[in-house]
Amino acid sequence: MAALPVFSVSVLLLGVCRVTGYTLTDQGGLGREFDGIGAVSGGGATSRLLVNYPEPQRSRILDYLFKPNFGASLQILKVEIGGDAQSTDGTEPSHMHYPDDQNYFRGYEWWLMKEAKKRNPNIKLAGLPWAFPGWIGRGKNWPYDFPDVTAYYVVSWIIGAKQYHDLDIDYVGIWNERPFDVKYIKVLRHTLDRLDLVNVGIIAADGNWDIAHDMVVDPYLNDALQIIGAHYPGTQTVQDAITTGKKLWASEDYSTFNDEVGGGCWARILNQNYVNGNMTSTISWNLVASYYEQLPFGLEGLMTAQEPWSGNYVVSSPIWITAHTTQFTQPGWFYLRTVGHLEKGGSYVALTDRLGNLTIIIETMSHDHSVCIRPFLPKFNVSSQNATFQLDGQFKDLKTLQVWHSKLCTNTTKPALFQKMSPITGVNAYGLLNGNPLWKDVITAGPDHGWAAIGTSSFEFAQFDNFIIEAKVQ
Ligand SMILES: *[C@@H]1O[C@H](CO)[C@@H](O)[C@H](O)[C@H]1NC(C)=O
Ligand SMILES: *[C@@H]1O[C@H](CO)[C@@H](O)[C@H](O)[C@H]1NC(C)=O
Ligand SMILES: *[C@@H]1O[C@H](CO)[C@@H](O)[C@H](O)[C@H]1NC(C)=O
Ligand SMILES: *[C@@H]1O[C@H](CO)[C@@H](O)[C@H](O)[C@H]1NC(C)=O
Ligand SMILES: *[C@@H]1O[C@H](CO)[C@@H](O)[C@H](O)[C@H]1NC(C)=O
Repeated sequence: MAALPVFSVSVLLLGVCRVTGYTLTDQGGLGREFDGIGAVSGGGATSRLLVNYPEPQRSRILDYLFKPNFGASLQILKVEIGGDAQSTDGTEPSHMHYPDDQNYFRGYEWWLMKEAKKRNPNIKLAGLPWAFPGWIGRGKNWPYDFPDVTAYYVVSWIIGAKQYHDLDIDYVGIWNERPFDVKYIKVLRHTLDRLDLVNVGIIAADGNWDIAHDMVVDPYLNDALQIIGAHYPGTQTVQDAITTGKKLWASEDYSTFNDEVGGGCWARILNQNYVNGNMTSTISWNLVASYYEQLPFGLEGLMTAQEPWSGNYVVSSPIWITAHTTQFTQPGWFYLRTVGHLEKGGSYVALTDRLGNLTIIIETMSHDHSVCIRPFLPKFNVSSQNATFQLDGQFKDLKTLQVWHSKLCTNTTKPALFQKMSPITGVNAYGLLNGNPLWKDVITAGPDHGWAAIGTSSFEFAQFDNFIIEAKVQ
């Protein structure tokens, strides 16, 4: 297993600790089944620059994200089902621009899912539309008037994934952060079942928890859905959601600048989404900041890879925070019931494979160093404490304690990992197209990060191939 870098202030421990105060046991039953930690590519175009990275950098970035026991070792990859519409940081292409059109080679999400599977065949895949092409609503920006059409469109994507890329999609959603429609969800479930896709779980509604209320009063809806997915739940769920008996996920969370406060946010919510809110999966928006940072929500990925022209990328703290959970658990493990808060701040969770292996993750993130950009975080205190954990039940006789530790630096020395490239202040620029000069010797004083506007006639795999921008510092 890869050694985790040691930072300095808040503490995150992993391993088995022989330690009064907190008992970790499987006696009296286990808690909920763990479904994995994941990340979203898309919603929209958040991985756009990654696909154009040179090798070996591109493979290394993918390793940091997906390779087991290496970096983030992600257990779930959720992608946008492109809808030909601007969906946050850009547009992703639909597999059906119009009703008779089907093409399962557009965009880069297919490629990304295959790269993820190549590294971790057990990674779970999820798809979710952010937008739909206009024909779905017959010109109206509304996908629910013709639920059969919409279900056919979404299920085609799932079937195309298998047929053209041998990708099994595990979960599918409804419509990102937009209203859900009970009838459509039932039609979608029915369509999946009819086409032998009974194992594809429906997640809904990728917004707030409101759907839980509908599920409590409508057993058919409750049956149609496998997972209630809420966005930015602030580690809390609602009673209706618990009443449904369904799995509860933070199906989109984090979305925080990936400096060390972002790492602190991620560490706190990964534990507390379960401890406070019974959520068994947390999915980061987004996977990797591979879009220009001046765009909305710049640098809000688990790591940064926004310079395909230089190959530079930054393995940010959230990657190593993720590793504390993912490198020592698998979807299908179970949380112990004996999880909770530490007396003087922080939280602990413990998971088991039910074969005797135990993983404990403890975080003591302070308020100011773990604020996520949303929702509002009520003030809390964390102070120095000694915590003693008593292992009981099946874990009573565990002899070996492996401990992994991270300390996020919040003030003085920055870990080398987070070194930034120095800004370029005076640039002598020229432009060539197929070897022909377009412009030359243009002195620019800014912007610091440069720009490129390139138009192509269609959405294809790699729009920037054979295109090089060279910047010379005077
Ligand atoms: C949900 O979480 C609360 C708070 O940790 C806990 O008391 C309760 O037992 C959990 N319920 C279920 C059904 O998981
Ligand atoms: C732990 O996991 C390994 C394989 O991952 C398994 O062989 C072993 O039986 C499990 N239990 C214990 C107590 O190590
Ligand atoms: C945190 O600690 C400070 C100083 O001891 C105290 O004034 C404040 O009320 C505490 N806040 C909370 C939320 O406990
Ligand atoms: C923790 O335990 C050590 C050793 O017993 C002791 O020196 C220290 O004061 C304790 N710290 C706290 C915050 O109780
Ligand atoms: C950061 O470090 C400086 C210098 O060591 C110190 O004066 C300051 O109080 C520290 N700030 C925080 C938030 O710890």
